[in-house]
Amino acid sequence: MDNRAAKTKAIEAATRAGEYIKQRLGNFERIDYKSAFNLVTDVDKGSEELILSILRTAFPQDNILAEEGGGAAKSGGRRWLIDPLDGTTNFAHSYPFFSVSIGLEIDGILEVGVVFNPISGELFSAERGGGAFLNDKRIHVSDVPALDKSLLATGFPPDTAKAFNRNIESFSALTDMTHGVRRDGSAALDLCFVASGRLDGFWEFKLAPWDLGAGVLIVTESGGTVTNLTGGQFDISTGHVLASNGKIHSDIVKVLDRYYSPAINKQLQ
Ligand code: IPD
Ligand code: CA
Ligand code: CA
Repeated sequence: MDNRAAKTKAIEAATRAGEYIKQRLGNFERIDYKSAFNLVTDVDKGSEELILSILRTAFPQDNILAEEGGGAAKSGGRRWLIDPLDGTTNFAHSYPFFSVSIGLEIDGILEVGVVFNPISGELFSAERGGGAFLNDKRIHVSDVPALDKSLLATGFPPDTAKAFNRNIESFSALTDMTHGVRRDGSAALDLCFVASGRLDGFWEFKLAPWDLGAGVLIVTESGGTVTNLTGGQFDISTGHVLASNGKIHSDIVKVLDRYYSPAINKQLQ
């Protein structure tokens, strides 16, 4: 089976789920709490069911890892990484910035990525080796050469006070060295904004494979660089990510290095 068929189905699933989410904006039934500040709505679950029914019909043999429990496959073979609503907190407050993220990895290698923003109608997609696209147009990372000309983004894990404090320090340091650091609330879209040159870099830690799979491939296929927070090899299972246009990568690493030494990363696991 080639990746083209997988990409086509992922696009169908992401756009159908996105339209469903959009219809339910301001009109969902309930919020539950996975923990004090980690929200989930009936729409997260409805979106996941919709995506799974499309992918399972098309690819019944494939493994699935989906945020709301529709599958918990470990890495290996063909594995779909599905975030049915990335930016739930935004959605629950009718703050219109969220997405559907669907990635496919095969034997641990990211092969297909699709991220759909149902509010803007923007569909970001990539296939390994085939470049990255925004709707039908090829996208590339920015060529901003220096931190003091850059716009960055980050995110904060909903759960860990210790981790939050740690990121506030790097947020503050990088805010002082750049045009600014945004905190938009959808990691999948943050990655796609790096891929399309709207942002020059993005970092976050303690994300999940479903937040990262699609967006990371879209960044690398648009010519960007993706590593862990200290410039080492990216590992989707840790959830630590630094994505950039490549040109300012080592300058961001120099700053993050102060806050995310290997010892600190270990404490944050
Ligand atoms: C969250 C978003 C947010 C990031 C959080 C994630 P969710 O995902 O991606 O931008 O900062 O760490 O948990 O819960 O809305 O799918
Ligand atoms: Ca998410
Ligand atoms: Ca989610």
